[in-house]
Amino acid sequence: MATSIPRNWEAELSDFNDRMVRHHLTPTWAYYSELVAKEPPIAYRPYLWKSELLWKVVHKSGELVDLERGGERRSFEVVNPDLRHLHGTTHTIGAALQLVQPGELAPPHRHLANAIRFIVKGRGSYTAVQGERLYMEERDLILTPTWTWHEHGNETNEPIVWVDALDYPFNKLMQLSFFQPGGPTAAPEPRPVNYTTNRVGLARPTWLKYPEEIPNVTYRWTDTWKMMDALRKEEGSAFDGILFEYVNPFTAGSVLPTMACYAQLLRPGEHTKARRVTTSAVRYVLEGEGSTIVNGTRFDWAPGDFFMVPPWAWTEHVNGSAKDAVFFVMTDKPIIDTFKFWREEAYTQNGGHQAVTDLFVPLQWA
Ligand SMILES: [Fe+2]
Repeated sequence: MATSIPRNWEAELSDFNDRMVRHHLTPTWAYYSELVAKEPPIAYRPYLWKSELLWKVVHKSGELVDLERGGERRSFEVVNPDLRHLHGTTHTIGAALQLVQPGELAPPHRHLANAIRFIVKGRGSYTAVQGERLYMEERDLILTPTWTWHEHGNETNEPIVWVDALDYPFNKLMQLSFFQPGGPTAAPEPRPVNYTTNRVGLARPTWLKYPEEIPNVTYRWTDTWKMMDALRKEEGSAFDGILFEYVNPFTAGSVLPTMACYAQLLRPGEHTKARRVTTSAVRYVLEGEGSTIVNGTRFDWAPGDFFMVPPWAWTEHVNGSAKDAVFFVMTDKPIIDTFKFWREEAYTQNGGHQAVTDLFVPLQWA
């Protein structure tokens, strides 16, 4: 039998709820929409950083920041204004540009956070991963997976700059930031140059087991671009054009357990259809000029710009020019897939295209 409800039950319940909160309890009946929203609330905005601003900072940091004075790395993150507390570009990915000057050595260390390096300027420098030097050319991709030793050396006469992205916002969310500096008692066994190239390919030595689950592969741009260019006349994805995912050669899965990397081509005149997905994405523009429309706001991009899109935001790309547009893309899809959180929805109104209601105005260096 139901208990009798007091006459002033609304006031009493409200007081009861408040008292629960003061005692560090959450009354589910009052907060259920915060606990389980019907759709993801917009937690942070899409954002874009212009090449001019980024390169001014690269050059100035080259003058002012000395690796020998304890900085470990001369890099700076592109930080979403709503994610300043995480230093995050998205809630899972922290993307940066890193500069290594001629003659410099960024000392060895390792961390639980996974990292991506995509070279955007310079050639001939190396990143040593697990003691193996990987020599880097422009637009090559290399990885420093979780807890692998890495150092960067520039023995050339020109600076090298790369897109540097880590999963540290996700790593910190999991409360699992570990870091170990290298030194005389903590360093990897050196491995010869081409150690991985000679062991991991379309044929493999039968009597050896490669020591790591994620091999220290150098993903050469020349190889990737050749494939993309060969398929440019295919239909491609209605939402992404010609999109290639870089894969782990052992598993054919994503290159890292937390982040996926892609090369994307939008052909001249290509206008993709709008869609929203549950991943967050960061793009670095390699070639071309055009725009990406996110939730009705138009973001104009050009080579050297960084831009990012949060989860569950309507997104479409426009290459209105007569030239190719090419991006290097990073997403957190492996995390989403691991937990089976993938959702996608195509925009069905207006032929799949959003109405543009706003124009994003990027910051200038001041
Ligand atoms: Fe590092």
